[in-house]
Amino acid sequence: MEPPRPEPDDAVVMLVAQHRRLEELLRRLVGADAADTRREALHEVGDELALHVIVEERVFYPAVAAASTESVLLESLEEHLSLKRLLDDLLALDPQDPTFGPKAHVLQEQCEHHHEEEEEHLFPKVVLLLPQAHRLDLGREMLREQGRLRREGAPREALRRQTDAAEPLRSD
Ligand SMILES: [Fe+2]
Ligand SMILES: [Fe+2]
Repeated sequence: MEPPRPEPDDAVVMLVAQHRRLEELLRRLVGADAADTRREALHEVGDELALHVIVEERVFYPAVAAASTESVLLESLEEHLSLKRLLDDLLALDPQDPTFGPKAHVLQEQCEHHHEEEEEHLFPKVVLLLPQAHRLDLGREMLREQGRLRREGAPREALRRQTDAAEPLRSD
């Protein structure tokens, strides 16, 4: 979808920009051959994916939970679980393992599909639901949370502890 307005702190604009950045990092991961390049690209994908998914689950989804968004949010949480499990598998693999390439490709496909779902079925509803002032507050809160997670170091490790079940849908 087209971002509603070119306001970088708008939560929806911010999440769409993070999708494009993640897709770029995933292309780099899938294109990498050497073990150290693969490992480095995977860590970058893992950290960015973690920052994105964690703020969606802790900040964004609860703020936008409503009757009109519930089913897409529940499906999104299941898609997040699948992404976390794939990432966990990849981080446990030797980058030269023959399954590394195919698994990285599946992670790329699932991420792209998930981004499409959010951009087509969730974000347009959020734009109708929340006035821009609210989306700006939300965007700033998301940035603060991401800064905190970054300072803790290796955000990807937090995702690896969340592979048992999908996070429950909370509402503010
Ligand atoms: Fe998501
Ligand atoms: Fe997202």
